[in-house]
Amino acid sequence: MKNRAWLTFAVGLLAALGGGWFAVPWAMYRRSEQPVQFSHRVHTSEAVGLSCQDCHALSDGGKFGGIPRLETCAPCHAEPQGKSADEKRFINEYVAKNREVQWLVYARQPENVYFSHAPHIRLAGLKCEQCHGQHGTTDRLRTFERNRISTYPRDVEGYSLVRLQPSRWNEGMKMDDCSRCHHERGVEESCLTCHK
Ligand code: HEC
Ligand code: HEC
Ligand code: HEC
Ligand code: HEC
Ligand code: HEC
Repeated sequence: MKNRAWLTFAVGLLAALGGGWFAVPWAMYRRSEQPVQFSHRVHTSEAVGLSCQDCHALSDGGKFGGIPRLETCAPCHAEPQGKSADEKRFINEYVAKNREVQWLVYARQPENVYFSHAPHIRLAGLKCEQCHGQHGTTDRLRTFERNRISTYPRDVEGYSLVRLQPSRWNEGMKMDDCSRCHHERGVEESCLTCHK
């Protein structure tokens, strides 16, 4: 009998810890799939031969183009380039109807944060990977997660467990991530640098 009580206790404790560790974070986020599946690997492969700049240009004036609009895709996708179901759907639902894709931005910052690509890419000479990880080489778009309460994307809040793995420190766009690099590189650290 005593053993049974121990077992019940242990199982209950594990369930409670598991609940706190996995279920709470799981319930915190609302998950949605991107409207179109897009492969960065296919488009930057030798066969297609596009570079990051072809779709994500930084103008001479320092204006970052962000995610390309349909007009960048349409010239190639006016005709099917392959046989994939993803491409077929993309052509039928977007290209043919001239409808912009409402992409979900993993790195999207809260309204009160000011961020511009120009000083980071041009002046600091940073690589995309230093902030965005391996996004530019991926084959599938991962599920987008948004905090139900703050409404921020999960990447902005940071994956706390990821931080225990040094190889994945770059993933996440929390204030700590910005500040750590600014501190290391001696960038002005006042609140108003990043907050409007
Ligand atoms: C054919 C055009 C095209 C090319 C070439 C391209 N991208 Fe993209 N990129 C997109 C589209 C479309 C999206 C929106 C879907 C997504 O999130 O991937 C995007 C989104 C992104 C994002 C945004 C991630 C976020 O926070 O939501 C990053 C970072 C990115 N691309 C990096 C790169 C890098 C690095 C390269 C070069 C290796 C590259 N891209 C080449 C079309 C392109
Ligand atoms: C220079 C021509 C070119 C441009 C520009 C281009 N694509 Fe493609 N795209 C291709 C080719 C080639 C394939 C490969 C077709 C295959 O083999 O299945 C492809 C495949 C695809 C596919 C199916 C495979 C996959 O999951 O990626 C989708 C969806 C797609 N493109 C969307 C886009 C979007 C969105 C844009 C604009 C941001 C874009 N393409 C811009 C040439 C292009
Ligand atoms: C210093 C970190 C940093 C670097 C380096 C960086 N990005 Fe970003 N990127 C961000 C942040 C932060 C956002 C979100 C911006 C916002 O919400 O205002 C973002 C957003 C984006 C987006 C989504 C659309 C937009 O503009 O909001 C794309 C696409 C993108 N970056 C591509 C790139 C590419 C391509 C490179 C390399 C040429 C790059 N980024 C380098 C931090 C960075
Ligand atoms: C990997 C390093 C790194 C990361 C990460 C980074 N930054 Fe920066 N940032 C820099 C450097 C270096 C400069 C200075 C560029 C220059 O002027 O030479 C800079 C400049 C800036 C500036 C302009 C400051 C000025 O004095 O004009 C702003 C605003 C800024 N960063 C905001 C952000 C925000 C917000 C984030 C996080 C979402 C972020 N940065 C993440 C390295 C980084
Ligand atoms: C290097 C850029 C940077 C600097 C400097 C900075 N912040 Fe932030 N801050 C951010 C970013 C990015 C976020 C959004 C991501 C997050 O919540 O971690 C943020 C979020 C916040 C939030 C949470 C806001 C919300 O809507 O939840 C507060 C509060 C805040 N910052 C206060 C400050 C104060 C006070 C200072 C000065 C001591 C400061 N920040 C300096 C980049 C910065």
